[in-house]
Amino acid sequence: MLEIVPLTPADAAEYRELRLRALRDHPEAFTSSHEEESQQPLEVARERLTSDHTSFWGAWRHRELCGMVGLLREPRPKNRHKATVVAMYVAPEARGHDAGRRLLQALVAQARQEGLASLVLTVTEGNDEAQRLYAAAGFRSFGVEPRAVRIDGRFLAKNHMILELDPA
Ligand SMILES: CC(C)(COP(=O)(O)OP(=O)(O)OC[C@H]1O[C@@H](n2cnc3c(N)ncnc32)[C@H](O)[C@@H]1OP(=O)(O)O)[C@@H](O)C(=O)NCCC(=O)NCCS
Repeated sequence: MLEIVPLTPADAAEYRELRLRALRDHPEAFTSSHEEESQQPLEVARERLTSDHTSFWGAWRHRELCGMVGLLREPRPKNRHKATVVAMYVAPEARGHDAGRRLLQALVAQARQEGLASLVLTVTEGNDEAQRLYAAAGFRSFGVEPRAVRIDGRFLAKNHMILELDPA
């Protein structure tokens, strides 16, 4: 039984643990690095779950956090109609059971409710699982940034995707 609920500051320890696992096991999927975030104290995780600029949803199974996704808002008047989907991760033992799809659905529903006009995100080229998940939710690609990240001396491109919630 999978529960999809917003994460609160009380979930900081579980959030941090899962986040570090994601960064350690999938360095190519995220722009943040394990090296960098593992140095940050728990307080930084708690602040991220408290900030008005971010919202996180968690997938819980047997009282364990097994998945997450985040929304990063823009503070400036000219671009606060859009937000960025970040930190999508489902632990390997929970994959293939709709956690990713349901996390994304919850985030998109929240964005609609807040009146956001678009959601954007990036996916590293070659990450077909994530790409398909986003495409199935209605995201479309609007460009590929070559050399978006460099990992162990290797350049990787990132696909930029958008979901327009308010096609005026
Ligand atoms: C991408 C990820 C979040 C998918 O999570 P998940 O819980 O397994 O996904 P779901 O079970 O909800 O599947 C939803 C859709 O995603 C796509 N998908 C998921 N796993 C897939 C796979 N192994 N192969 C192809 N497509 C896949 C499919 O479109 C699937 O829909 P379908 O079952 O109707 O075909 C997970 O694989 C993951 O955490 N990967 C590593 C981290 C990562 O890449 N994060 C994204 C950063 S942009």
